Amino acid sequence: MCGITGYIGKKEGLPIVFDNLRKLEYRGYDSAGVAFFNAVSSIKHQVLGPKVIKAVGKLDNLEKAIRGAKSQAATAAIAHTRWATHGIPNETNAHPHTDCKKEIFLVHNGIVENYRELKTDLTKHGHHFYSDTDTEVLAHLIEEFGPELALKKVVGAYALAVIFKKEPEKIFVARLGSPLVIGVGGGEYYVASDPTALAGLVKKVVYLKEGQRGWLSLSGMKIGPARPRLEPLEIDPEQSRRGNYKHFMMKEIAEGPEVLESAIRGRLSVRRNSVKLGGLESVTDQLKRIKRLEILACGTSYYASLIGKLLFEELADIPTEIAIASEYRYAKRPVSSQSAAIFVSQSGETADTLAALRKANNQGLLTLGIVNAVGSSIARETVAGVYNHAGPEIGVASTKAFISQLGVLSLMALHLSRQKLKLHKEIIKELRILPFKIESVIKNSGAIKTLAKKYLQYDNFLYLGRGYNYPAALEGALKIKEISYVHAEGYAGGEMKHGPIALIDKNFPTVALATQNRVYEKMISNLEEIKARSGPILAIATAGDKKMAKLADDVFYVPKTIEQLEPILNIVPLQLFAYYSGILRGYDVDKPRNLAKSVTVE
Ligand code: M6R
Repeated sequence: MCGITGYIGKKEGLPIVFDNLRKLEYRGYDSAGVAFFNAVSSIKHQVLGPKVIKAVGKLDNLEKAIRGAKSQAATAAIAHTRWATHGIPNETNAHPHTDCKKEIFLVHNGIVENYRELKTDLTKHGHHFYSDTDTEVLAHLIEEFGPELALKKVVGAYALAVIFKKEPEKIFVARLGSPLVIGVGGGEYYVASDPTALAGLVKKVVYLKEGQRGWLSLSGMKIGPARPRLEPLEIDPEQSRRGNYKHFMMKEIAEGPEVLESAIRGRLSVRRNSVKLGGLESVTDQLKRIKRLEILACGTSYYASLIGKLLFEELADIPTEIAIASEYRYAKRPVSSQSAAIFVSQSGETADTLAALRKANNQGLLTLGIVNAVGSSIARETVAGVYNHAGPEIGVASTKAFISQLGVLSLMALHLSRQKLKLHKEIIKELRILPFKIESVIKNSGAIKTLAKKYLQYDNFLYLGRGYNYPAALEGALKIKEISYVHAEGYAGGEMKHGPIALIDKNFPTVALATQNRVYEKMISNLEEIKARSGPILAIATAGDKKMAKLADDVFYVPKTIEQLEPILNIVPLQLFAYYSGILRGYDVDKPRNLAKSVTVE
């Protein structure tokens, strides 16, 4: 959601902040803008500006609008991509916003929850507002009180970069609730809401902590109240690029085998039938006493967590509860000192998951993270955790992160198990060869494209699964909803006759996860019931399953694997099906409408 970039250094800032904004495009936005100092007056030797340029829609529009503009070297520049929350996407509501005197210009991510009260007070004091946004209030508050005092009056969340007409060589930055990172190198400072924007530019960064704020200038960085900590930036710029793929989504689906390998690399020992998770070593003793687990997440990460629950209960014998983070954060729940709470998040910045984490930390729970984005808020605020190491996920629809999360959840379940079962050894062995099996599914993606064409006529789907494949059905349905704007419902097979069967007819196809496992025969019964009502069936089945060939209208075969790991394999054809369905409908699959990559507001 919304992206911030900023620069102060010896170079010309405008092209830098614009290029960095491009790297944040994947987050989703509907308008964009820049503010920069545009020239030196030869008469008074004064810097002119700041000049603000905004455009609605894609960054290409902003690029056209800034064509020919030049910013003055060694002065500050800021830029922003906005995803509308308060007020429609138009140039007036786009950032940067300014005060009455047009001396303060700022870009903001987050939400000013008390903006209505603040606006009323400021209006009484003679301030005039031009936009519908909550952000504009910040510019007027700073005008009235200065940055430090202004922020004390704000209830809500912010990542902020502010420039001042009177101080062209400075940027004021602040963070509360929304991420902000400062890239540091060679007397230059880069500001970004997401470290991806800094890849290839700097080697060191400061991830601003909650409540940290301060100034960046040509003469240095003054951040407080806590001292800023320089950390290495661990993002490979190569990984963020699209390579030869037409879409990030396809690139990321194709990275499935690689991300599973990265998730398990150095963490498995077949010989010792064991799993080693370095990120959990610091809490080894506490984990030995754990009697109950909770998992909190949103969206795709939540569906991965549902599979995690089954793994923890079956492999580690630990009762596990799971909640959607946005529900958990407001729920009254009994707390037990023998519980640990696991937070699963690709971005590590999802506002609801972060709020749930803070609640759990306040309640004194042992909090653990399964996070992909290194250095993100959730990674830093959990007591311990395991990184996915899946590399940046750019496509808004989560694909490779889901596979990686399932890999890490399997490892964690094995790691927490207090006994070593034969099944554990089999799973450890299978995890090693699973990347090759995923590879074979991806090689067959042409067959999925053909199926997507055949099913293009339908606007409604039922996705059915049982056991480990039930959450995979939920995730498959979410994918096609997000990418193709087609209605799809994920259901547990056993629930079909309790309602959704009423929908079945020749116009309502079912995508069935019907691989050969403990609940295979039950799935067959479901499919027979669907067949009897003329419902078209597209089945994901185990290679060699002849019964399925007779029962389903169409079958996509996947290699046999262990039931507990089936979702890792079975989700791939569903991701591909969503991808091709979206492409064939002519949609932008990397940036589906109304969605943002990282949901950093509630
Ligand atoms: O970054 P997170 O894993 O915390 O994100 C959670 C959800 O916002 C995310 O999975 C969302 O549902 C995606 N659009 C799924 O494709």
